[in-house]
Order: sequence, then C-alpha cells, then structure tokens
Amino acid sequence: MTDKKILQEKILDLKEKRKALILAHNYQREEVQDIADYTGDSLELSRIAASIECEVIVFCGVNFMAESASILSPDKTVVLPEITACCPMADMVTVSGPRHLKTQFPGYQYTGGYKYPADFTLKDIKKLHPGVPVVAYVNTTAEVKAESDICCTSANGVKIVESLGTDKVICIPDRNLSAWIAKNTGTEVIAWDGFCHVHDRVTTDDVAGARKEHPGAVLLAHPECRIEVCEIADHVTSTSGMLRFAASSDAKEFIIGTETGLLYKLRKDNPDKIFHPLRKDMVCPNMKKTTLNSVFNALDTMTYKIKVPEEIRAPAKMALDRMLAVK
Ligand code: 13P
Ligand code: SF4
Repeated sequence: MTDKKILQEKILDLKEKRKALILAHNYQREEVQDIADYTGDSLELSRIAASIECEVIVFCGVNFMAESASILSPDKTVVLPEITACCPMADMVTVSGPRHLKTQFPGYQYTGGYKYPADFTLKDIKKLHPGVPVVAYVNTTAEVKAESDICCTSANGVKIVESLGTDKVICIPDRNLSAWIAKNTGTEVIAWDGFCHVHDRVTTDDVAGARKEHPGAVLLAHPECRIEVCEIADHVTSTSGMLRFAASSDAKEFIIGTETGLLYKLRKDNPDKIFHPLRKDMVCPNMKKTTLNSVFNALDTMTYKIKVPEEIRAPAKMALDRMLAVK
C-alpha cells in the first residue's frame, strides 16, 4: 500500500471511531475529495450540514463553511482541519471595525478603486439605505450573516433576490455576483465592493485566448467572475451546477472558469469528455491548505473546533434558514 493509501485507511478508521462525517468543498485537493463522505458546492454542503446524523463534522473547506455548519448544527462538533483556511473575500466586509483590503494576491492585479473607505462597515451601508434587505453571500463571517436578512450562494443568488420581491437589495460582499444578480433580476442591487481574487483575475482576453486554443469547447463561468466574462460565457453557474451541466450536455469539450480543483471531479465523472481550465492559475491557496495529514490530525486531536457564540448563531441561523427555505 502507498503512504497515501495507508493514511486514507487510518482516516477512515478514526472517522468511524469518532462517529464523524467528512464534508469537502469541490475545490479541495483530489486526495481529500476522495476520503470525503460528501463533496459539493456551498449550498449542497449547507443543506447536508443541516440534516446529517453524526457526532462530528470535519469540514474540509474554508472557515466560513465550517461556521455555517456549526450555525446549522449546533449540537455537533464541527472541526476545521486548517485553522488559517479562510476566504479573503469574506473578510472584505465587517459589521464593525476596518475590513481587510487585500490587494496583494499572486497573479492578481486589482485595477478598480475601492468604493468605500477602509472603515466603512455593513452597519454604515445599512444606514445609507434604510429598510433595504441585505442579502449575504455565504462567503461571509457568522457576525455578518447575523446582521443580514437572508443568505445566498452562487447557486441560488438570483432565486433568493427574486423571492424577496423588493425593487432594491444590498448584496454583500461580491461585486461580481451582485452584478450577475442585477442583470438576471429586475432588482436594483446596491453592491459591496468585494471580490474573489481567484475569479476576478479572469479577463475577456483570457476567454478569447481559451476559445482560440480550444475551438468549439463549451465555456462555463462561475458568477464570481467579472460580469463581462459571465456575459460571454456559454453558461454561468455554481461549481456543482457545472458538474450537472457537463454530465448532461452532449458537448465533449469544456473550458472551466472556476477554481481548478473542480476539474478532478469533472474528469472523474465524465471520462469520455475533455476539460480545460480557463486559466491554470485559478487556484485558491486557502482551499488547498487542507491535506490528508491535516484531516488525520483533525480527527485525532479534534482540532480546530469551530463554535459560533449563541448571540451570533441565532440571528445568523435565521438568515441561513430563510435561504434554505427558498425552493
Ligand atoms: P460554490 O461551490 O458554491 O459555487 O462556491 C464557490 C466558492 O468560491 C466557495 O468559496
Ligand atoms: Fe474565497 Fe475565492 Fe477561495 Fe472561494 S475561491 S474560498 S471565494 S477566495
């Protein structure tokens, strides 16, 4: 047996002992996806976290995902194997205090000017637009969710905004998902100025280049990509939406505009089809922090436990529950 196989076996044994289930986001390393009980996009993993029977959830993803699992399943122990696995976009909006203006990411050049000063908070934008509902992308902290009316994911953003039936919404933190929602609903969207450095780096020139290199391939884009990229993609959807689309499509070749971790499952599920990354450097360093070793340590030492304080958990759960109630 290889070292990898031995470690995978050890994880499976320990998992049984702890009565644990392993959830892994679609961007996780291949070997981590392989030992997971469930893989999925943010919406699927939230639904699973809300309904599964187990004592421990090991969340292989980034911190806001483990927080959501803890919010939805407070009686379970939720463990995040790598405590520094975070989402820089989630940290771009705060309830109080300065947010992180992270402009330095390898391979990414921020070109716009920030709309808001560094100490501008969620409370400030709410004060500017009283009575306008706040739709928080799940890529936010528990504290931010607690101050929001409803959550959404990349899979259901349009549906969630439509469900509110208002002419205006505040969408945080992703300006690109906000633009996509505005384009696909009749709703005026007041957008926060956050972005995902992995998706926001893609330009229309990248799209043109990939199409020239792979003529005839179907191009799928994640709504965290810039609006001008989404507008020329063949289909815009969440990571699991891409898995479903590729499986049911007659097309044989695809260009994938999201984090490259998704290519593993796309290729595994569709051995007769060809998948190319839209850009090879669409890699989320935080999603890649979790390794088989960290999953083993997480189960062995039960670290790092993620627990949201009750005064934040209860209102944050309301925002998540409202989202999960929209069919
Ligand atoms: P989905 O898998 O929900 O499409 O989300 C993408 C993402 O960036 C999560 O951090
Ligand atoms: Fe955050 Fe982007 Fe990484 Fe997703 S891919 S966790 S949005 S930085």
